[in-house]
Amino acid sequence: MTSIGIIGGTALLELDAEWRADLESATPFGAASAPLTRSGRWPGVLFLNRHGAGARLLPHQVNYLANLWLLREQGVEAVLAVYAVGGVAPELRVGDLVVPDQLIDYTWGRAHTFADGAPGHVAVSHVDFAEPFDEKLRRVLACAATRARVAIHAGGVYGCTQGPRLETAAEIDRLARDGCTVVGMTAMPEAALARELGLPFAGLSLVVNPAAGRGPPGPTVAGWEQAVAAGRGAITRLLTHAAAVLREEHGDQAQ
Ligand code: HPA
Repeated sequence: MTSIGIIGGTALLELDAEWRADLESATPFGAASAPLTRSGRWPGVLFLNRHGAGARLLPHQVNYLANLWLLREQGVEAVLAVYAVGGVAPELRVGDLVVPDQLIDYTWGRAHTFADGAPGHVAVSHVDFAEPFDEKLRRVLACAATRARVAIHAGGVYGCTQGPRLETAAEIDRLARDGCTVVGMTAMPEAALARELGLPFAGLSLVVNPAAGRGPPGPTVAGWEQAVAAGRGAITRLLTHAAAVLREEHGDQAQ
């Protein structure tokens, strides 16, 4: 059975209410954000809530090393990560889904590599990261979107900022000049660590607000919650199909 890891965050705190949290969260890098959970309704899928129980971990506090290590240790062969983002590109609207194909890292000070003395770890310097999101997995997401009849923007540049504050309008202007189309706070070092571990990785981003200076001032928590609640059905449908496509590609029995 193919094993797929789904990392959820603000845009997806859980996949369904029937998850059993019966797996350890301890790793040589400390505790992951939460124990991995699984559900009979999602064969072959392990789910991890990046922000932990009660969404207590801010983006810069997440133990990304432990999270990715745990997923790999549990036999996950591909990781799909879900993100809440601000829309930078003018064509994006709240509620849009973007599968980015590139990213720019503006974070600082986060533990960002397994090369810093992992016990018995392989040398992971100079890992190729020219294409940060796995092309095949992105195609799987696009195919799943078609099957699920969910519209996505295939491609885009995810600018990952440090947070936890939101950006200034000038910072967003700079991101736009750099070519960013969405802005979020959690894709890095998540994507790079997956690459270091050799885990195919792709992201699905839900636009929950226009980025700073790109819409009415002040994204509100209520606005985010509304966008997340409205987007949940489409995200869940899309991920259900993505998991099925991956199982088919691996020749697993249809469930
Ligand atoms: N900026 C950074 N991260 C975000 C945003 C934003 O506007 N919206 C959701 N996550």
